[in-house]
Amino acid sequence: MRALVVRPPVPGVELVDCPAPERPAGSIRVAVRECGVCGTDHDIVEGKYGRPPDGASFLILGHENLGVVREGDPAAPEFAPGDLVVATVRRGCGRCRFCLANRSDFCETDAFTERGIRGAHGYMAEEYVETPDYLVRVPAGLGPIAVLLEPLSVVEKAIDQGQRVLDRKEPTPGHPRPEAARALVAGTGAIGMLAALLLVIRGYDVTAVDRRGEDTFAARLLGRIGAKHVDVAAGFGAVGARRFDLIVEAAGSTAVDFSSIDRLGPNGVIVLTGIPDATERPVPVPGGQIFRDLVLGNQAIVGSVNANRTYFETGLEDLGRIEERWPGALASMITSRRPIESYREVLLSAAPGAVKTVLTIGVGAPPS
Ligand code: BGC
Repeated sequence: MRALVVRPPVPGVELVDCPAPERPAGSIRVAVRECGVCGTDHDIVEGKYGRPPDGASFLILGHENLGVVREGDPAAPEFAPGDLVVATVRRGCGRCRFCLANRSDFCETDAFTERGIRGAHGYMAEEYVETPDYLVRVPAGLGPIAVLLEPLSVVEKAIDQGQRVLDRKEPTPGHPRPEAARALVAGTGAIGMLAALLLVIRGYDVTAVDRRGEDTFAARLLGRIGAKHVDVAAGFGAVGARRFDLIVEAAGSTAVDFSSIDRLGPNGVIVLTGIPDATERPVPVPGGQIFRDLVLGNQAIVGSVNANRTYFETGLEDLGRIEERWPGALASMITSRRPIESYREVLLSAAPGAVKTVLTIGVGAPPS
């Protein structure tokens, strides 16, 4: 089968022929239909991140996926040939209590693998094989947008983590219902836009910031969903005096992280989702001021990574809710679908203005 392979830490990516995986009893064979491309893929292609499976000289790239069951198994009658499926990404260490409960996103041993990222082959290939525990069945009607489920699952978890911290603010007896929580989304790439959509659905009053001006796809979509867009190219001052209960950081920039922390309101929480480059130049920060505000304001900084199956399941429901409320909004975030043969243009450069680029793969024709 054809597969896109990388050899981190050596930069580069190639389309090669390699043997299709064996299907052990109990597993499902899936024909890949399409894979989304994200910042993590670009980092792996640049050799900055990622690791081949133990003993292998290469890694099959790709973790944002959508496929069609090609071969089921009598032990898993819920998966029939032709069903659409999305596979989760992380595989547990098999030792810690989180991994043993299929919650490897909270793995405590660091011995987990991630398909397409770290120690396990991914989905940018014609086929993969997986056990039912890690496969989520997708209703056919969501096919055109289901490749967004994996990034949405990451957002589902991040917002859930933030909400858990906000839940410390229990209702105070005898007081009227508090007004809608104010949320700030820093960054309007795919993760930031999915966060904005989900937060509006969840009833937050949403502001999203970027540095790209007003004449962009993101600014228009934010307007459509009733979120506020602010261009902070000239600084966070443009946000005004507002303070936020929940900040979702989706920019992967340390400088943005520190500027946005400054916007946290009392008892607020910032959830960081972007993975900054550990080798980037140190950023000068007013540490005393930030920690003073954190303590005096009961504030929290939370990191959030990956997502377990439950977040894929809530994500699937939310894909449906978002589609129902703003028809076509999610589909419009897939700014281009390119055949796998275009991998060089897609993976070796960043298309300006692209929100989500998707590679179409194998015989599974792209959904219309
Ligand atoms: C993926 C996550 C993964 C993280 C860190 C993200 O791009 O969506 O599944 O855990 O990278 O490797």
